[in-house]
Amino acid sequence: MTAQLKNDVFLRALMREPVPYTPVWLMRQAGRYLPEYRATRARAGSFLNLCKSRDLATEVTLQPLERFPLDAAILFSDILTVPDAMGLGLSFAEGEGPRFAHPLRDEAAIRKLAVPDVGTELQYVFDAVSSIRTALNGRVPLIGFSGSPFTLACYMIEGSGSDTYSNVKTMLYDRPDLLHHILDVNARTVIDYLNAQVAAGAQALMIFDTWGGALAAGKYQEFSLAYMQRVVQGLTREADGRRVPVILFTKGGGLWLENMAATGCDALGLDWTVDLGAARQRVGSQVALQGNFDPVALMASPAAIEAEVARLLASYGSGTGHIFNLGHGISQFTSPDNVSTLVESVHKLSKVYHS
Ligand code: CP3
Repeated sequence: MTAQLKNDVFLRALMREPVPYTPVWLMRQAGRYLPEYRATRARAGSFLNLCKSRDLATEVTLQPLERFPLDAAILFSDILTVPDAMGLGLSFAEGEGPRFAHPLRDEAAIRKLAVPDVGTELQYVFDAVSSIRTALNGRVPLIGFSGSPFTLACYMIEGSGSDTYSNVKTMLYDRPDLLHHILDVNARTVIDYLNAQVAAGAQALMIFDTWGGALAAGKYQEFSLAYMQRVVQGLTREADGRRVPVILFTKGGGLWLENMAATGCDALGLDWTVDLGAARQRVGSQVALQGNFDPVALMASPAAIEAEVARLLASYGSGTGHIFNLGHGISQFTSPDNVSTLVESVHKLSKVYHS
């Protein structure tokens, strides 16, 4: 028996139902800016060990909730566990970011790529999801997530992060058939992966399309959005008699909000380049909006943080459908005290927009 949800403000805001205040959570809320995270990570030995340990992943997922009155928890894991499960050999070199031992660079390797059995290769993720649900005991909802098929392909083809994604984009123009094959395998894998997270206890889902915004007009729709749409349409949208809302986030996707809203998702994640009020006018009755505080503004003074919170809340205006968040992940150099200021200002200043 799973515990009754005590705080469902986040889920209700995603469904654009009335709420008493604007809910808030932060991308990468469990991370290196928290000394307790650094301590647990040191005990784990490496970031990947942390992701693969059910108990340690549960511990770090809950850490930010112990400090701040956040309205949602997010599974502690990484989007790159999926290509790792496909046999690409993930590692994280200290201070360097992710690296794959076997990136997809030739046609033979690409033709061999197949949908893994997520139930064996990624069982550690689903174990973490059920353990986190138990530990949360109904405190707030748990978000599951995946990378988008295109963003996963970026890392699989480049073999690491990249400033230009030139290998991916060259393939897109020279051999679109090969890229489509990778995206097809990724989309089918992501559907299995997210549905298994829901079966294990995830109550909302978010798809991270970090690099879709690097694509040209038209190419975004063909190579990123179309596959996210396939994923959205393949997902289990109900669990425990409640809708499991899906959030799509394309960083740099501000020009394409109408296209994103038409996929059938419940909410859009917005980076900080978008004006929240204008975005609401463009898509407001179709989807909820999540974002879009500039994570660097968290380095500013408490007064400046509060002023920026006030500006974003006013920009969205009255009514439901806004989930406060950053426009991208929190920087490791952020002071936890500033995060307190942010979360408390959102709760305090948003009430007038919900009366
Ligand atoms: O939001 C959360 O708190 C949940 C956990 C989470 C992590 N990564 C933990 C993490 C989530 C949702 C992600 C998603 C992710 N991972 C994305 C999409 C969102 C985004 O940020 O654009 C991407 C592109 C990745 C890939 C990735 N993982 C990179 C490029 C890096 C290295 C860069 C960095 O910040 O160190 C990671 C590592 C990573 N993932 C860390 C954390 C907490 C830091 C690892 C550490 O402890 O050293």
